[in-house]
Amino acid sequence: MNESMKGLKRTHRCAELSAANAGESVTVMGWVQKQRNKGGIIFVDLRDRSGLLQIIFEEEECGAENFAKAEKLRSEFVAAIVGTVEKRAGEANTNLATGEIEVRAKQIRILSEAQTPPFPIEEDSKTKEELRLKYRYLDLRRPDLQKNIILRSKIATSIRAFLAEEGFLEIETPMLTKSTPEGARDYLVPSRVHPGTFYALPQSPQLFKQLLMCSGYDRYFQLAKCFRDEDLRADRQPEFTQVDMELSFVDAEDVMEVNERLIQKVCKEAIGLEVSLPLPRITWKEAMNRFGSDKPDTRFGMELTDVSEIVSGCGFGVFTSALENGGSVRGINAKGQAEMPRKKIDALVDFAKGYGAKGLAYLSVQPDGSYKSSFAKFMTEEELHALVAAMGGEKGDLLFFAADKNKIVWNVLGALRIELAKQMDLIDNDKFNFLWVTEFPLLEYSEEEERFVAMHHPFTMPMEEDLKLLDTDPGAVRAKAYDIVLNGVELGGGSVRIFQSDVQEKMFEVLGFSKESAYERFGFLLNAFKYGVPPHAGLAYGLDRLVMLLVKAESIREVIAFPKVKDASCLMTDAPNVVDQVQLDELQISINPAEE
Ligand code: AMO
Ligand code: AMP
Repeated sequence: MNESMKGLKRTHRCAELSAANAGESVTVMGWVQKQRNKGGIIFVDLRDRSGLLQIIFEEEECGAENFAKAEKLRSEFVAAIVGTVEKRAGEANTNLATGEIEVRAKQIRILSEAQTPPFPIEEDSKTKEELRLKYRYLDLRRPDLQKNIILRSKIATSIRAFLAEEGFLEIETPMLTKSTPEGARDYLVPSRVHPGTFYALPQSPQLFKQLLMCSGYDRYFQLAKCFRDEDLRADRQPEFTQVDMELSFVDAEDVMEVNERLIQKVCKEAIGLEVSLPLPRITWKEAMNRFGSDKPDTRFGMELTDVSEIVSGCGFGVFTSALENGGSVRGINAKGQAEMPRKKIDALVDFAKGYGAKGLAYLSVQPDGSYKSSFAKFMTEEELHALVAAMGGEKGDLLFFAADKNKIVWNVLGALRIELAKQMDLIDNDKFNFLWVTEFPLLEYSEEEERFVAMHHPFTMPMEEDLKLLDTDPGAVRAKAYDIVLNGVELGGGSVRIFQSDVQEKMFEVLGFSKESAYERFGFLLNAFKYGVPPHAGLAYGLDRLVMLLVKAESIREVIAFPKVKDASCLMTDAPNVVDQVQLDELQISINPAEE
C-alpha cells in the first residue's frame, strides 16, 4: 500500500548532498536503484534526476518497523527517507558524485511500489530501442537520457536569455494554419466547422515571422514546433523544434553576427566549449567542389579533386562521355588504403551506386609503384601518371573516381568521403567545427516537376549582382541565403528576404506560379508588403539537432522526450490511430482505403 508523505518535506535532491552536509538531518525522495540486504544491514541506492545516493539501514538506528520496510524495497519502488548525512566509514566510491557520503536512515516511507520494469534502468542501455520507446516513461528515467533532456532545457533557457538580452521578442504563431512553403508534405487537420477544408500544421513559422516584421516587431524569436511529413532519418523527425528568428533593418552580416555570439554563448554554457569567432565561411560552390556537400564535415581532409581536364582526352569512355555530357570527373584519395581487399572495394562501389553513381572507378598505387586499377587498360601509362600526380597519389594510396553530371559526382563522392573517413577512423569526435555556407543557388531545377524550384523558399532574396540572370540563366543566380553547419550536419538556415514586389513577382514567375496562384497561396503576405515593409532577414536552427550534436548523441531521438520512429508512429501511444466513426461523421470524412 502506498504511504502518504504527509508531514515530510524533501530537503535535498539525492546528489545535491556532499561531505559538506555531514551531520545534517535530511529528507530525500526518489526511486530505489538497488537494495542489498547484508543481514543486519541494508544498503539502498536511491535515485532521482540529480543522481544516486547511498542509504544505510541498521535496525538499532531506525527501529524494527522501518527496517522491515527497507527489507521489502525492490528496484523502482518510490521511497521517502529521513536520516543523517555521514562520511562513509569504508572507502569512498569515486564513481559516484555522492561517493564520499551516505545517509544513515531513521525513517522510511514507501510512497509507491513498482513492478519489475521490462528492462533495467541503467546508463548505456543494451535494450532494443523499440522496447525502450514503448516504455519511454521508464527509458526517460535512465541517467543518460536525463542528462540529455536536462541539457536541452538548459540550452533552451540559455537561448531565450541571450535573445531577450539582444532585444528579441518571443511571439507565438499559430499551429492551425495554411500550408507554408518549406517544400515538404504538410500534415493536415480537418475542419469540423468548414467541412471539406483543412488546416495545415506549420512546416515553419516563415510567413508569420515575416508578417511580424511588417507589423513592426523588429526582432522576433520563437522556440517553434514545426511539422513536416517527409522520410525520416537519424536527424529528422516529423515534428521538431526550431529556434526561429527574424530581424528588421538588417542584412545577412547582421544576422550572422548575432548568431555567432548566440552559438558561442550556448556552447560555453551548455558544455563548456570555447568557440572562437568569427566562424569560418565558405561559399556553396567551394563547399561542393572541395567536399561534395553543402554541409561539409571539416573535421578531416580527403577533399575532392576535379580531374576533368587531366582525363579529357583519355581513352576511357566512361570519363570522356561524362565530360561530353557537360559533367565532370572527380576523385578522392584514401591515403594508405592501397591494400583494401577487393570485397571492401566492391562494397564501396555498391555504396556509391546507392547515391546515384553508375559505377566507381578506382586505382591503387602499390608499394612497388605499380598501379592496380579498374580502368588502367583504357589509359596510357602517361595518362595514368598524370592522373595519379593530380590526385597527390603516393605509394600505398587508393584513389576513387566518379564521372557523371556534377550533381551526382558531388553527391557520390561527398557521401563516399564520409563513409571512408568513418572506416579509416579519421574523425576526431572532440572537435566541434562550425561553418557558414553562403551564396547558395537561388533555384534548383527539378527534373520531376520540369521547372525551377526554390532552393530555400520563394521569399529568399537573390544577390543583387545576379538579378539580371533571372531571365537568362535562372540556375546561375545566387541567393542571399546562409546555412550554419556543425560537423557535417545542417544546424540551421536562413536568408535575407525579398521585400520589393517587383522582385517577388519575378521570382514567382521563374518558379512557374501565375500571379493568381501566388496570391491564392501567399496573398496575405504579398498584400502586407503593400502597406510598408521593412527590409528583413532571419534564420532558424533545428533545436533537436543542436542538442544532439552538443551531447554527441547518435540520433535526434535521444534528445527528444517522446520521439517518433521511422514510420512516424509513436510506439508508446500507438499514434497515429483510427478514430471513432462519430468523429469522422462530424468532419464529414469517409475513409477510402487504397486497394492493395
Ligand atoms: P529550414 O527548412 O532549413 O529553414 O529549417 C531550419 C532548420 O530546421 C531543422 N530541421 C529539422 N530538424 C529535425 N527534423 C526535421 N524534419 C527538420 N527539418 C528541418 C534543420 C534546419 O536547418 N523558415 C526557414 C528558416 C528561415 O529562412 O528563416 C526554414 O524552416 O536544422
Ligand atoms: P566498365 O567498363 O563499365 O566495367 O567500367 C570500368 C570501371 O569504371 C569500373 O570500375 C566501373 O565501376 C567504373 N565506372 C563505370 N561508370 C562509372 C562512372 N560513371 N564513374 C566512375 N566510374 C565508373
